[in-house]
Amino acid sequence: MTDEWRGWQEAAETALYGDEGFYRRPEGPAGHFRTSVHASPLFAAAVARLLVATAAELGTTDVDLVDMGAGRGELVTGVLAALPAEGGAGLTVRAYAVELAARPEGLDPRVQWCAKPPRGVRGLLFANEWLDNVPLPVAETDPDGVDRYVEVRTSDGAERLGEPVGGADAAWLRDWWPSAGPGSRAEIGRPRDEVWADAVSTLSAGLAVAVDYTHVRAERPPYGTLTGFRAGREVRPVPDGSCDLTAHVALDACAAAAGPDTELRTQREALADLGISGERPPLALASTDPAAYVRALSTAGEAAELTARGGLGDFGWLTRRVRSPSGAHPSPSGG
Ligand SMILES: C[S@@+](CC[C@H](N)C(=O)[O-])C[C@H]1O[C@@H](n2cnc3c(N)ncnc32)[C@H](O)[C@@H]1O
Repeated sequence: MTDEWRGWQEAAETALYGDEGFYRRPEGPAGHFRTSVHASPLFAAAVARLLVATAAELGTTDVDLVDMGAGRGELVTGVLAALPAEGGAGLTVRAYAVELAARPEGLDPRVQWCAKPPRGVRGLLFANEWLDNVPLPVAETDPDGVDRYVEVRTSDGAERLGEPVGGADAAWLRDWWPSAGPGSRAEIGRPRDEVWADAVSTLSAGLAVAVDYTHVRAERPPYGTLTGFRAGREVRPVPDGSCDLTAHVALDACAAAAGPDTELRTQREALADLGISGERPPLALASTDPAAYVRALSTAGEAAELTARGGLGDFGWLTRRVRSPSGAHPSPSGG
């Protein structure tokens, strides 16, 4: 812990991913917050369905699955477990968990643990709540209307304004998050655009999906979204390694950076296409088969959480289809 002042990108990089960083801790992300993956196994089942659909589009039974920013490998493990029930019994799947933290003990031996996404894969690359943890510079407009980098003190999260924003960052702000006037803030999403485009480029064919908290150009929050999480609670963002540091993702900018064949939808819409909705089972089932009714009710409750307005259902699903050089596979059906 130091009294050093640094830009937010550099400070967050050390706080999250340095040797003593928040994401190196043994408890992993699930010790501090709940993602869709932790909320319900229905999420992994939906991703399994998407993998099956992607393999069908590619015309293969031999397919890659890349869980990008895998946490402790919960999603990839859940997908492998769900595949037989979701029409994937006949698939041969090479499964990769891409994660900066160490491989957890006892992980399914079929999962390859890597620090970088493997290149040239054919199949599905899925990044759930990865991009919001990619550190980025923060800007604030000063009283004269000049956008300046916000600097932060590691020890207590105090902030001050630094140099004017210039070069590619200034161009990004102009294109994607113009100032709302003195005192307004913006999170410069350029590093996220770049890592997303790079992740997409690792696919030789198939589908890349990024799922995250999002906002689009017409509705940027005037003071930004940078915040912290610790042990299930939202806390003041202090870059000392004691908490998660996260900011919503300008997925529209990421989409533009990664080329054509992209689609941006809500999680609610994407999961509905994959057969998940929060509808309650018919009441008649309660008298004909009470046990089935209780099971269906519990499933509906989990689906409702995944698709809720004002909650996980508002997350953005950015999909980018990568066609093999021949462009041979037919157009999508499952997402
Ligand atoms: C919010 S957690 C999400 C975990 C999991 N995907 C889920 O949905 O539960 C983000 C994860 O991304 C990992 N991460 C961030 N940047 C990464 C990178 N460049 N390469 C690999 N993993 C990264 C972090 O270590 C962290 O475990």
